[in-house]
Amino acid sequence: MTRVLAADAAGIAEAAVLLREGRLVAFPTETVYGLGAVATDDRAVAQIFAAKERPRFNPLIIHVSDSKAAFRLGCCDDRAHALAAAFWPGPLTLVLPAAANCPVSLLARAGLDTVAVRVPAHPLAQALLAAAGLPVAAPSANRSGHVSPTTAAHVLDDLAGRIDAVLDGGPCPLGVESTVLDLSDESAALLRPGGVTVEAIEAVIGPITPPRQANESAPRSPGRLTSHYAPSLPLRLNALSIAPDEALLAFGPSPPPAALAINLSPKGDLTEAAAQFYAALRALDAEARQRGLTRIAVMPIPARGLGLALADRLRRAAAPRCPSALDGG
Ligand code: TXA
Ligand code: MG
Repeated sequence: MTRVLAADAAGIAEAAVLLREGRLVAFPTETVYGLGAVATDDRAVAQIFAAKERPRFNPLIIHVSDSKAAFRLGCCDDRAHALAAAFWPGPLTLVLPAAANCPVSLLARAGLDTVAVRVPAHPLAQALLAAAGLPVAAPSANRSGHVSPTTAAHVLDDLAGRIDAVLDGGPCPLGVESTVLDLSDESAALLRPGGVTVEAIEAVIGPITPPRQANESAPRSPGRLTSHYAPSLPLRLNALSIAPDEALLAFGPSPPPAALAINLSPKGDLTEAAAQFYAALRALDAEARQRGLTRIAVMPIPARGLGLALADRLRRAAAPRCPSALDGG
């Protein structure tokens, strides 16, 4: 049984107790719901991988309540300090060299000598981390390869019966995952575009290295394998006209006619589109399948600002599926 905990003092306290007992608790962040376990507890971390059916070589983001706690886990330099001051709490994950005495489970780090840390801004995430008083490993609370959850109901769709509780904080305000930036060597490398835009990061630390192509070998971020974040129907990107057997994921004021469509933002606003994105993909996928449609056509979305994160997730969702599911989730 998975309990649904209310977003009040009692719910937060209960969630913190469960975490400290080594159990799995999903909780809202400003980006998507995370599936939390105490990051220093190997057994609890192992349960995350089991519940998600996540490949073990894909490391987890460690969530802490402030930058002081983050820099106890990873070694910070001037860039990390500047970025933390500018964007934490918020949707930015920094990959840092692990501190010599880093207490984070090696399983959560997938055996790497780096650690990914983030200070989430969502008030419930903040309250939970403060109450738990320990670093919390939390991947997105979906089964590996599925679309990320932005409501407690999405979490239950994928993980009911597999986790102990979900703290229900309503829809996540931002809707796409954090930006993952690798600061483990001199070149700051973008591993995953996300909630903090490249433009905003470059305004603080100067030019960063763009993401490597996901199909290149030995990606620095193991989660960046191509097939990822996929709905069950195939996707066709940059669609300007719609076939009769297609549903439409639209963007902007003048979508082509389609029998079934969801518009991410009729006014063409990328922030609004990001907030709707995963919920729209889930809803369109379910409804299209029910109506016997065979594909989701997606209109072009401008690849700037938050649109870069959306374009990245769409490219992964449209990539050929690999049955051995070497994706990260
Ligand atoms: O917004 C988010 O980041 C959400 C919320 C819950 O915080 N979390 C999330 O986690 O999206 P997940 O596990 O779905 O994605 C984490 C990404 C993966 O691509 C993983 O490979 C990468 O971060 N990552 C984690 N630790 C890493 C490390 N040490 N080095 C390189 N990449 C790492
Ligand atoms: Mg994920």
